[in-house]
Amino acid sequence: MIYEPNAINLARAAETIRTRGIVAFPTETVYGLGANAFSEKAVARIFQIKGRPANNPIIVHLAEAADISQVADITDPKISTWLAIASKFWPGPLSVVLPKHPSIPENVTAGRSSVAVRIPAHPIAQALIRMSECPIAAPSANPSNYVSPTTALHVEAQLGDLVDMIIDGGPCTVGIESTVLSLVHDEPTVLRHGAVTIEQLRDVFENVTDPVAEKTTEPLSPGMLPEHYAPKTPLVFLSAFDPKVTSGPYGFICFREPSHPIPAQEVRVLSASGDLEEAATRLFATLRELDSLGLSCIVVEPCPEEGIGRALMDRLRRATCGGARLRRG
Ligand code: TXA
Ligand code: MG
Repeated sequence: MIYEPNAINLARAAETIRTRGIVAFPTETVYGLGANAFSEKAVARIFQIKGRPANNPIIVHLAEAADISQVADITDPKISTWLAIASKFWPGPLSVVLPKHPSIPENVTAGRSSVAVRIPAHPIAQALIRMSECPIAAPSANPSNYVSPTTALHVEAQLGDLVDMIIDGGPCTVGIESTVLSLVHDEPTVLRHGAVTIEQLRDVFENVTDPVAEKTTEPLSPGMLPEHYAPKTPLVFLSAFDPKVTSGPYGFICFREPSHPIPAQEVRVLSASGDLEEAATRLFATLRELDSLGLSCIVVEPCPEEGIGRALMDRLRRATCGGARLRRG
């Protein structure tokens, strides 16, 4: 059930987290499915609710950087120097991978020796973490392999019966997941492109490795595996679309106002002016909406791969790679 974020409901949500329940809550990126990060049992329920493969680790959310030593070992001087630099983006849409503290159960990190940590900026996420008095382990609040939710209604539509509470914080202002930056490699390494751009990271770090761009064959994180985040309706890039072989009405997603009429039945413009940050806030909701219309396919234009456009194209590539197949989970 969906709850307004008033003081009574937030206190109840915090109590639910403390006592090993599951609460979906807003962050500025996407909605998270939260559990007490110190409870193996509560975290096991998250994997079950999402149908998430046990080898995919979960991000631990804290209210402030001062709490990191509760969940990660930051004694290595190189790592603590990098962490001080990364914390310039906090609170905000950045998750950093650090050596794990033994207090964190094995299932949170999927058996890895590292843990991903994020300090979200959203005031409701902040309040919930503080009131829960524990770190909150939270993946995106969608069934595994589906598009991440950016409203409380998205969460309710798919997971409403499975979670204890959904806190409504309105639509997410960023709309795309956090950037995952590993600090346990030889250089700071981007494991997932997201709302903090590689340009922003390269402004503050001497070197940032981008295995996504370098097409490293061995995935460093399960989130780098190719299939992820897909609607059920086949999604195709414009370059791969042939209207002659389309069997029925189709949808079309543009990143800016089109200069000529588009012959599709359902056309959605993510940003009239072509602003990629505005487009990011709308992309997932638009994919969900078009996915509910029974269309034969959804066609999407590529966007420029700069700034947040890199994360948008990353999500679209994953969503287009297997659209016609039935999803797991
Ligand atoms: O914006 C976000 O990051 C949202 C909100 C709720 O914080 N969360 C989110 O979680 O997107 P999830 O579980 O959908 O994605 C977490 C990503 C996955 O790609 C996972 O493989 C990676 O982070 N990850 C988590 N822990 C890791 C670790 N220890 N080492 C490497 N990758 C890790
Ligand atoms: Mg996810």
